[in-house]
Amino acid sequence: MPVDTSYQQPFRPFFHYTPQANWINDPNGLVYFDSEYHLFYQHNPQGTKWGHMSWGHAISRDLVHWQELPVAIPEAGPVMIFSGSCVVDKANSSGFGSDGRPPMVAIFTGHQPSNQSQYLAYSNDKGRTWTRYGTQPVLDLNKKDFRDPKVFWHEPSQHWVMVTVLSPERKALFYTSTNLKNWTRSGEFSTDVPTKTSGKAAPAIGGIWECPDLVELPVEGSMERKWVLLLSVGSGAAAGGSGMEYYVGQFDGRTFVRDPATTVARPIDWGKDYYAAVTFNNMPMRGNRGAISIGWMNNWQYATDTPTRSFRGAMSMPRELRLTKQATGYELRQRPVQELKSLLGPAFQWAGFDQGALNQSLTDNGFSSDTYQLTLDLEATKAEAGVRLCRNTDQETVVGYDPIRQLLYVDRTRSGQVAFAKDFPGRFAAPVKPQNGRISLQIWVDRSSVEVFANDGQVTLTNQIFPVPNSRGIQFFGDGLRSASIRPVEPIWK
Ligand code: FRU
Repeated sequence: MPVDTSYQQPFRPFFHYTPQANWINDPNGLVYFDSEYHLFYQHNPQGTKWGHMSWGHAISRDLVHWQELPVAIPEAGPVMIFSGSCVVDKANSSGFGSDGRPPMVAIFTGHQPSNQSQYLAYSNDKGRTWTRYGTQPVLDLNKKDFRDPKVFWHEPSQHWVMVTVLSPERKALFYTSTNLKNWTRSGEFSTDVPTKTSGKAAPAIGGIWECPDLVELPVEGSMERKWVLLLSVGSGAAAGGSGMEYYVGQFDGRTFVRDPATTVARPIDWGKDYYAAVTFNNMPMRGNRGAISIGWMNNWQYATDTPTRSFRGAMSMPRELRLTKQATGYELRQRPVQELKSLLGPAFQWAGFDQGALNQSLTDNGFSSDTYQLTLDLEATKAEAGVRLCRNTDQETVVGYDPIRQLLYVDRTRSGQVAFAKDFPGRFAAPVKPQNGRISLQIWVDRSSVEVFANDGQVTLTNQIFPVPNSRGIQFFGDGLRSASIRPVEPIWK
C-alpha cells in the first residue's frame, strides 16, 4: 500500500509541523538565512519508529507555513546523524564557502554504538544539498554519550561557541573555535540544585542531559540581557518522563555560570510533551525581540507508541522567549510567535457571569472546529473553574484552575485513546498564582495537541491528545469565567 501522506488522516495536526510520512524527534539546526527559516529534525526516512536517524528538512518564510524538502543529511553506513545545530558562516571562517557567499555549516553528533562525536557538513545552496566534511569527527572524546552540539557565534569574543553534553554525567561542556574545525575546551557546567516541580523545591531530577542550548535573552522592561541554559532531561521531569529545565546566569564567551540567586532549576514546560527545544541561530535583529524556539511535542516514555498512522511526531508552535525580573530572580516568558496570528479567524467573544448562556450559545451557534485558539480570563475564586475541550459523550480534555492549591492543570485521563501507554493518561499541573485575582489563559487546540499559556507566558503546559474524530465540544465549568474568546485557526496545509 502506498504511504498515506494526506493531511486529512486522523490526528494529523493542521497548524503544527509534521513530516509527510515517518518518524521525527528533536528539532535540529534551527537557523534563519536569506529570508528562510530552516527546520531540520531527527528523522527516520524509512519508518514510523526511531531508527536510521538522519536530518529531515523543512523551510518557511513566516514560521507558520512549512515546506518539506528532501532529507538533508542521511545516515552514513554505521553512523547515524544525531542532533545538532546549524550556523551561517558569514566570514567563511571554515573555508567551506564558494563564490564569496557564506556557507551554512551543520554541526551534529555522529552516533555509533560505542562512540558519539561531533561532525560537520556544509551547504552552499541555501541548505538544499549538503557535503560532509570528510568522514572524521572534528571533536571526539572517545565517549559513548557525548552529544547534541549547539554552536553559535559569540560577537564580543569573536569566536564560535559550542555547548554539548556528557549525558549520563549530567554535564554541559563548552568549547570555542575560530574556524568550526578546531575546538578548544573552555568550561563546563553541572549542578545538583533541585528542580522546582511544585510549589516547593523537589529533589534534583536524575535524568540524563540532552540537547543543551545557551542563549542570551532580553529582560522585559529594561535594556538588560541575560544568558539562559536550556536543557532537556531524559526522565523525572515535572510531568514525569522526559522534559526541559533552565538556568539563568552569565556567559563570558567561555563558560556559563548560573546566578547564585537561581536556587532551583525551573521547568520550561509543565506538560508531558515538550522536549528538545532549541532556538534559532542568525535571527534578524528586530528591536528587543526574544529568541525563537521550537520543541518536539512528545515524551520518550511513549513517543514510539502514539496512535498516529503514517507519520509519528510533531513540532510545537514556535515560541518567543524572553525573561522577566521577579523578586525571586529571572523567569522565562514564552509566547507563541506573533506570526501565528495570521491564521486566526474572526473571534466569538463573550463576557459576563452567565456561563450557562455561553455554553448554550456555543451549541446553538454550532461553533465546531478542531483547530482553534481560546483565550480565557478566570477569576480565582474558591471553586475550580476552566473548560472541557474536545468533548463527545465519553471524552474530554480538561483545562482547569484550582484556586485552593493554586494549580493550573490539564487532565487528559479521558481525552480519547490513552491506553497505548501506561504513562500517557493523567493530570499534569503547574503552580500558578493569580495576578490581581485573575488567571489568564491562552489555549491552542490542534486536533492532537493542547498548548496552554498562562498569565502571558509565565507557565506553559503542552500535551498531546488523541480524541476520536469530531470530538469538538467545548464546555466551560465552575463560576470563575469572566471573559472568553474563541477563534478558529486556519490549517496551514492546503
Ligand atoms: C533527544 C535525543 C538526542 C539525540 C537524538 C537521537 O531526544 O536522544 O540526545 O541526539 O535524540 O535521535
